[in-house]
This record gives sequence, structure tokens and C-alpha cells, in this order.
Amino acid sequence: MPQRILVTGGTGQLGRVLVDQLVAAGQRVRVLSRRGRTGGGAEWTTGDLRTGRGLDVAVAGADVIVHCATDFRREAEVMRRLVEAARWGRQAPHVVYVSIAGVDRVPLGYYRAKLAAEEVLAGSGLPYTILRATQFHALVRSLLAAAARLPVVPVPRWRFQPVDVRDVAARLAELAAGPPRGRVADLGGPEVRSAADLVRALLAASGRDKRVVRVWWPGRLYRSYAEGGNLAPGHADGVVTFERYLAERGNVAAMRYR
Ligand SMILES: NC(=O)c1ccc[n+]([C@@H]2O[C@H](COP(=O)([O-])OP(=O)(O)OC[C@H]3O[C@@H](n4cnc5c(N)ncnc54)[C@H](OP(=O)(O)O)[C@@H]3O)[C@@H](O)[C@H]2O)c1
Repeated sequence: MPQRILVTGGTGQLGRVLVDQLVAAGQRVRVLSRRGRTGGGAEWTTGDLRTGRGLDVAVAGADVIVHCATDFRREAEVMRRLVEAARWGRQAPHVVYVSIAGVDRVPLGYYRAKLAAEEVLAGSGLPYTILRATQFHALVRSLLAAAARLPVVPVPRWRFQPVDVRDVAARLAELAAGPPRGRVADLGGPEVRSAADLVRALLAASGRDKRVVRVWWPGRLYRSYAEGGNLAPGHADGVVTFERYLAERGNVAAMRYR
């Protein structure tokens, strides 16, 4: 029996892939977006998690809500609005939330906000599941791409464990189909690699080779990354490597790092 699944953020880089996977699996999918859209085998609904506009219609009848929308400034407030809307109905849907590995270790404002959103959900009385994932390939690539344009490439002494959104979406789809599990094991990409190694992979993907120098910055944020606060090494469950992601991006040949 297909479930009725509301995906918030179903237009984002993760949400888009999740919607496709859920539709392909035969689930009944509704997507919430601030802009009216159609297509993709899903039902579309317009609403805004910041103001609450349209949320009553969006959550109506949902068995599961997979919350992939994100609001950098108001992550916890948005979660509060979502769970309030979900409680208006009588169904107490299972809310699945995607968070970030290390939200309780890395001193970034956005991470603190994600942790606060997790706490709002855990205290909401709704059945829930929280999955923390490591950084997506696209984020790691864009973080390193700016440095890769310089003649000599400076990189922090950090490691990343980039994960593909297809792997994260697949785990979310599995969790959405199952019972609420509270916080589950983190999901990490297949490899933990130094930033220097990843930037070399990025350069190689566009046929370049440059000198890479490791640099150090003072401060708590730098240190928490240097200590691996952003990693989930015991959960390297993703399968798509950074090289495969770069190769599949297709337009790497057009990129210029001079
Ligand atoms: N990027 C990473 O490396 C990473 C790693 C681990 C976890 N995560 C988490 O994964 C989730 C998805 O990230 P992403 O990179 O796929 O996000 P994204 O591409 O930036 O997409 C953001 C989504 O949020 C929706 N949204 C924003 N404000 C909204 C509002 N007020 N009301 C309704 N919808 C709103 C947007 O929908 P519309 O514009 O259509 O309204 C859009 O679909 C986030 O929670 C993020 O923290 C990301």
C-alpha cells in the first residue's frame, strides 16, 4: 500500500532526487514549494514554512513528512511551524528530518540551528526519525573550487567525507517507508579524504595539476574541522565516490582553474 508522503524542499538538490526515487517506488508524493509548479509524477502544493502559508493543505492526509527544506537563518523556527501544522491534523505523521553530521561538534551558526531544529522535532510529540549526513559532493566541490582557481592552491588541514545526494535520498526513502526510529546512525560518504587530496581530484578532473599547500588558521571552527568534527567515519555507507560524482557532472571539461 503506497504511503502519502509530503516532501518539503522537494525542489532542492537533495529533495529533487528523493522525489524522483519515491515516485519511482510507487509512493504517493506531494511536494511543498514556495512557488507553484507541476510535473514529475508528484502532486505540488504551494506554501511557505517561514510564514505558515499553505501548510495546512500541504500536511493534510500525509502519513509521512520528509523535511528537506532548509532556511539558513530560521531552521528551528521553520521546524516549529512544520510540527505545529502537522499536529493540526489528527494523523500525527511520521516526520523524517535530514540534519548534518557534527551539528553538535562544529561551532557554526547554521549547525547550531540544525541542532535546535532536531530538538524541536524530538520534543514535538510526533513520531520522528533524524538522519545526519556528511557534506554533499556539490558543497565540497564548491568549497574547494574557489581555492583551485589560484595559481598555488591553499587548503586547510581538514578532511571531508563527501556523500552523494542519491545515497542520502535512498536512505531517506528507506527511513520514510519504515517506522519512526528517533535519531539513526549518521550517513557518511564512502571515503574520508583530506581537503588536499580532494582538491587534487578536482584539478585532475579538469586536466590540471597545481601545487597544493596546506594552511592553518587559528580559531575553534578551524580546529573542530581539523579534529574531524564533520565526519562519520564509522558510517561510510554511501557508495558514490567524489571522482565518480565529478565525472558524472559532465561539464568538468568546461571548468577552468588557472
Ligand atoms: N548541502 C550539504 O552538504 C548537506 C549535508 C548534510 C545535510 N544537508 C541538509 O540537507 C537538506 C537539503 O539540503 P539541499 O542542499 O538539498 O537544500 P537546497 O538545495 O538549498 O534546497 C532548499 C529547499 O528548501 C526550500 N525552502 C527554503 N525556504 C523555504 C520556505 N520558507 N518554505 C518552503 N520551502 C522552503 C526550497 O524550496 P522552494 O525554493 O521551491 O520554495 C528548496 O527546495 C538541508 O536540511 C541541509 O541542511 C545538506
